[in-house]
Amino acid sequence: MRIFITGGKGQLGTALAAALIDHEVTLTDLPEVDIADKLAIFATIGAAQPDVVIHCAAYTNVDGCAREPELAYRVNGLGTQNVALACLEHGAELVHISTNEVFAGDNPAGYAEWMPLEPRNEYGRSKAAAEHHVRHILQRAYIVRPAWLYAAGGRNFIHAILNRARSSGQLRVVTDEVGNPTYAKDVAEAIAQLIQTHQYGTYHFVNSGSCSRWEFANEILRQAGLTHVVNTPILGSEFKRASTPPPYAVLHNIAAAAIGIRLRPWQEALADYLQSVISDQ
Ligand SMILES: NC(=O)c1ccc[n+]([C@@H]2O[C@H](COP(=O)([O-])OP(=O)(O)OC[C@H]3O[C@@H](n4cnc5c(N)ncnc54)[C@H](OP(=O)(O)O)[C@@H]3O)[C@@H](O)[C@H]2O)c1
Repeated sequence: MRIFITGGKGQLGTALAAALIDHEVTLTDLPEVDIADKLAIFATIGAAQPDVVIHCAAYTNVDGCAREPELAYRVNGLGTQNVALACLEHGAELVHISTNEVFAGDNPAGYAEWMPLEPRNEYGRSKAAAEHHVRHILQRAYIVRPAWLYAAGGRNFIHAILNRARSSGQLRVVTDEVGNPTYAKDVAEAIAQLIQTHQYGTYHFVNSGSCSRWEFANEILRQAGLTHVVNTPILGSEFKRASTPPPYAVLHNIAAAAIGIRLRPWQEALADYLQSVISDQ
């Protein structure tokens, strides 16, 4: 297949390039192509003539989105509209990457694929707008929602926890944000399977199981051999930031499991990630 990836230098884009090695892949990112520039994205997708576009590019800094909501909508909402219209024009399927932050995060039972979108912050609102654009424009589209993504080389939670643990020997991490830590490599491999199915729809690609940020940090410390580091549990209200994350946006994979696509438990994925980081050092 000919596959075109936006956000190709990001965590998921990089993992996809590795997972799709058997395909003809074109990667784009800033500064070469801005998805908010309709003419540029039409021209680039037109030149590549892809069978499938995997749209990972996004303004992913949630606090930045809170400070600049119009920019968040221009990149995540209108940028996705541009990508979807270019797919329509050039006859490509689309895999749109969304997020768990399209949900309110107040349902203690978590979220299945069909539940209504109710974003509570600007990032989530811009990503919910993106999903609406995709559904209005394209019939041949997959919407994939990961959560709490991490990848080698990425600016992610694990990287931040290990840096802080090593530099200061103590941590303060929130207990009232619960989600599914998810390895980008596993999402990329699941997407590689999904695009063979032509089973268009909405999917939750998260590693199985869930935990709070505090529990996630404890497991990172345990697996990294840093159990002497003090990890103090705190509440989100004690940790000032521009954006408010959904407190309990746990995703359940029901649709992908029904077609045989399941992601392993998050603790196993974390072990694999830490192993790959150590072997790259
Ligand atoms: N990270 C998470 O925890 C998480 C969780 C759930 C869902 N997601 C979703 O998963 C997808 C991939 O996330 P990720 O973690 O791989 O993100 P990432 O590492 O931040 O990569 C996103 C890429 O998009 C690029 N980009 C930003 N604005 C752009 C624009 N206007 N035009 C073209 N490219 C642009 C970024 O470039 P710059 O770096 O130069 O800005 C970056 O290379 C995103 O759609 C995100 O919303 C992420």
